[in-house]
Amino acid sequence: MESLLEGLLPAEVPVAGATIGDHLAALTAEERTFVETAVPKRQHEFSTGRVLARSILSRLGHPGFPLLRADDRIPLWPEGIVGSISHAGHVCLAAAAPTRVTAGIGLDLEPDEPVEADIERVVCRDGEHDWVAAAGESERGRRRRIVFSVKEAVYKAFYPTTRTFWSFQDVRVEIDLLGEAWRAHLPESAGVAEAEGRVALREGWIVSAIALPPAR
Ligand SMILES: CC(C)(COP(=O)(O)OP(=O)(O)OC[C@H]1O[C@@H](n2cnc3c(N)ncnc32)[C@H](O)[C@@H]1OP(=O)(O)O)[C@@H](O)C(=O)NCCC(=O)NCCS
Repeated sequence: MESLLEGLLPAEVPVAGATIGDHLAALTAEERTFVETAVPKRQHEFSTGRVLARSILSRLGHPGFPLLRADDRIPLWPEGIVGSISHAGHVCLAAAAPTRVTAGIGLDLEPDEPVEADIERVVCRDGEHDWVAAAGESERGRRRRIVFSVKEAVYKAFYPTTRTFWSFQDVRVEIDLLGEAWRAHLPESAGVAEAEGRVALREGWIVSAIALPPAR
């Protein structure tokens, strides 16, 4: 499943992917407390994400690290490591790397299925509406979801540092589907004006990914 991410992140960022399954038994007691009362679907996606994260953390020199989470739900990676987890349908993806490689990672996985027109008002702004409208009728629903996915990825890369909520209207993206690339124009709280990431349509999925340049 990690092939879904192939080429979308720098080579120094290890990635992992798997079909979502019941990995509750692999959680530490503390990790389990986060999903003890959750429905099985949630338990499975959470535990699969933890297992994938743990395999990456082993490769990064942190074997057996319990990946707890903060009150605002972000995973608490080891000191000096940043990462991201995304799950959708039956698939889960994860990536993590040292902060000398990247200051933040954002992953988003969405089914490559169209979304209705009303979503566009919430998710898209100025030039994005034009980008959606420029596609044929049958393609517009898909483009709306691509904009959504890219914004989720960039938000997830910045949030652990900014701890600031951004609405979809706070970020503007320009997407080059053929080049599998995008540029996001960011709100002031990001600390930088722009960020560049990748997006690919693969095996029925929209996969968005970004690894921010390391902090100087
Ligand atoms: C955090 C959020 C982006 C998660 O996205 P999602 O599409 O629902 O779900 P995904 O499967 O892709 O990601 C969920 C995982 O992201 C991680 N996560 C949760 N909150 C996060 C945050 N604020 N920042 C970074 N990662 C976060 C967790 O690892 C979570 O999985 P886990 O609970 O099993 O560990 C979304 O729920 C959210 O809070 N959005 C806020 C508004 C927004 O999207 N703004 C975008 C404007 S640009």
